[in-house]
Amino acid sequence: MIKIAVYSLKGGVGKTITAANLGHLYATHRTKKLKGTKRNSLRRVLLVDRDPQGNLSQYFSRYDVDGPVQLKPVGTEWPWLDIIPGNLSLSGIEDVALDVDCFADDYDLCLIDCPPALGKLTAGALRCADYLIIPIRLDAFSTHGLENLMQQLSYLQEAGFDAKVLGVLVTHDEPAWYRDDVKALLGERLPLFTTAISRSAWVAESTIEHKPLAELTGPDHHLKPMCIKPAWQYRRVMNEIVDRLSKLDRR
Ligand SMILES: Nc1ncnc2c1ncn2[C@@H]1O[C@H](COP(=O)(O)OP(=O)(O)OP(=O)(O)O)[C@@H](O)[C@H]1O
Ligand SMILES: [Mg+2]
Repeated sequence: MIKIAVYSLKGGVGKTITAANLGHLYATHRTKKLKGTKRNSLRRVLLVDRDPQGNLSQYFSRYDVDGPVQLKPVGTEWPWLDIIPGNLSLSGIEDVALDVDCFADDYDLCLIDCPPALGKLTAGALRCADYLIIPIRLDAFSTHGLENLMQQLSYLQEAGFDAKVLGVLVTHDEPAWYRDDVKALLGERLPLFTTAISRSAWVAESTIEHKPLAELTGPDHHLKPMCIKPAWQYRRVMNEIVDRLSKLDRR
């Protein structure tokens, strides 16, 4: 089981949407397969909500306001996609270490949604993960933002977090005079995904409908699934992830 944390200290950059949609796309056979996955085998994904806001759990309608959080996967509407839900009680838990290795035989991929702060929950998630995906918004990201991020990453390394940055993902992408320059700068310093996720009203639609982007078909169902831009963009990103992981594996 490959474990990837979706991490950023900034709020609202698209961590939750990214974890949710990458997980859904992989579980529903809409992307390439991870190396080592047998032909025709299932592609089982475990999502972990480590944010007391519980947005990932809400997205899949698996949010329980009162219940204490348990490290126990529950099913979603999609057979091979399970979630360990989170809620406010996460902020009070004593043991913030996250250990999902007991589920390693049941899933191929585990995606962990982090809260927007470097608190204990995030630290636990980062220790658990093999890789990080870092969503960023270019509008909130100047050269200064890049320096901050580089500092953060070296701090994490010094503090003994050895999860590797698998990729930086531009979200809320839209035409802007600085767009190409900032992307070029980012690409020089960090492994930037070639595909960016456009800013799109479909994302809000998917949270309102509690449906992943690849399942949306428009108000009168006139659209084919996957023709919605951020849906196929996330599929491309998931394919880039599979390619990157297989290259890393070969070394
Ligand atoms: N590509 C996009 N286009 C338009 N809106 C988006 C896009 N991605 C995310 N959003 C919206 O931005 C908001 C924040 O997204 P999301 O909750 O995924 O961010 P987050 O990083 O998990 O936030 P937090 O730090 O609070 O957990 C949501 O309202 C979501 O609908
Ligand atoms: Mg979130």
